[in-house]
Amino acid sequence: MIRVNEHYSKLKASYLFADIAKRVAAWSQANPEKKLIRMGIGDVTEPLPPACIAAFHAGVDELARRETFKGYGPEQGYAFLREAIAQGDFQSRGAKVDPDEIFVSDSSKCDVGNIQEIFANDIRVAIPDPVYPVYVDSNVMAGRTGASENDRYAGLVYLESTHANGYVPALPTAPVDLIYLCFPNNPTGATATHAQLKVWVDYARANKALIVFDAAYVAYLRDPQLPQSIYEIAGARECAIEFRSFSKTAGFTGVRCAFIVVPKDLKVWDAAGREQSVHALWNRRHSTKFNGVSYPVQKAAAAVYTPDGQTQVRALTDFYLGNAKLVRAEFARRGLACVGGENSPYIWVEVKRDSWEFFDTLLNQAGVVCTPGAGFGRCGQGYVRFSAFNSRANVEEALGRIATLL
Ligand code: MLT
Repeated sequence: MIRVNEHYSKLKASYLFADIAKRVAAWSQANPEKKLIRMGIGDVTEPLPPACIAAFHAGVDELARRETFKGYGPEQGYAFLREAIAQGDFQSRGAKVDPDEIFVSDSSKCDVGNIQEIFANDIRVAIPDPVYPVYVDSNVMAGRTGASENDRYAGLVYLESTHANGYVPALPTAPVDLIYLCFPNNPTGATATHAQLKVWVDYARANKALIVFDAAYVAYLRDPQLPQSIYEIAGARECAIEFRSFSKTAGFTGVRCAFIVVPKDLKVWDAAGREQSVHALWNRRHSTKFNGVSYPVQKAAAAVYTPDGQTQVRALTDFYLGNAKLVRAEFARRGLACVGGENSPYIWVEVKRDSWEFFDTLLNQAGVVCTPGAGFGRCGQGYVRFSAFNSRANVEEALGRIATLL
């Protein structure tokens, strides 16, 4: 008899964004004549940068000729892209990352969900609250969390990120082995300084713990004082894996390309206390279960690092930050406190009422979609998240509707 993975029964009935999509679909069906404006899931709306499009086309054309045709590529990614990433995102900022420490993939969501697979099942996991739900759900599926009660899994250590701590969690009081951090943060849009990240790096090194550092929104950092990579913090190569994506940087949500950095200095321990290389383990996993990102997509991603690509990516992210500024200003006018939106495409608004109730009111009465904070964890109750990914006209229209409603 084929048996089910019983841990799946501990998951919430559906994935947050699937749940929202269901409510939105029901609204659209009931209101076919009304225009819906989506400021919920962080999905980009603007076309790809021209440099990426040109490289994408050229990559496709290469596949059309016998002399330049490509079949399977390296599972870890083509050297041209890994070299461009190492230089453009890390070495240029003084962070030591070598091209062969980069693993190109189709998605940060997959990477961040899959990484836990190479660690033992009885490790203690620390998860921020509020949090991108994939960190939690992938550990639930693996059987690390126990059952959920009152929106909390007994087996997880929660790192509360609240107004009181500036949305940067304090160190856990109970010992932990695997720590998830995300800056600029999804969902709050908060950022962390060098000093704040150093506290975590020092903790991880002292406790032989490992940090999963999700930097998917790094392209939105504008404050030059803030670190862009965890490898700008001394010692991070010994304790952190960094996750990045072209989705929010260059509009690749539909194209699919991301990468993780696994430094060769990073160790994990077996039951006998012997060191193992995380790089070797991930390489084994990645080359067994993944067959590489398509060649034209990698060409398009590499174009991000050309001078034109850099200028165009900056303009694209500036455009979304311009939307974020309008959202922040509107809520400030209504006396609702916000965080995020200055170095992040997300704005976390304290709505001072049940966040699902606010979500439903906004959807039903204004035809605007946000994301209820409670969907990201208990600390998200009373908040909603607005995404700045939309056209300017839609953002302005949504804010007009919100002004009327509030
Ligand atoms: C979000 O809205 O949090 C993101 O778009 C989700 C994702 O990138 O998977």
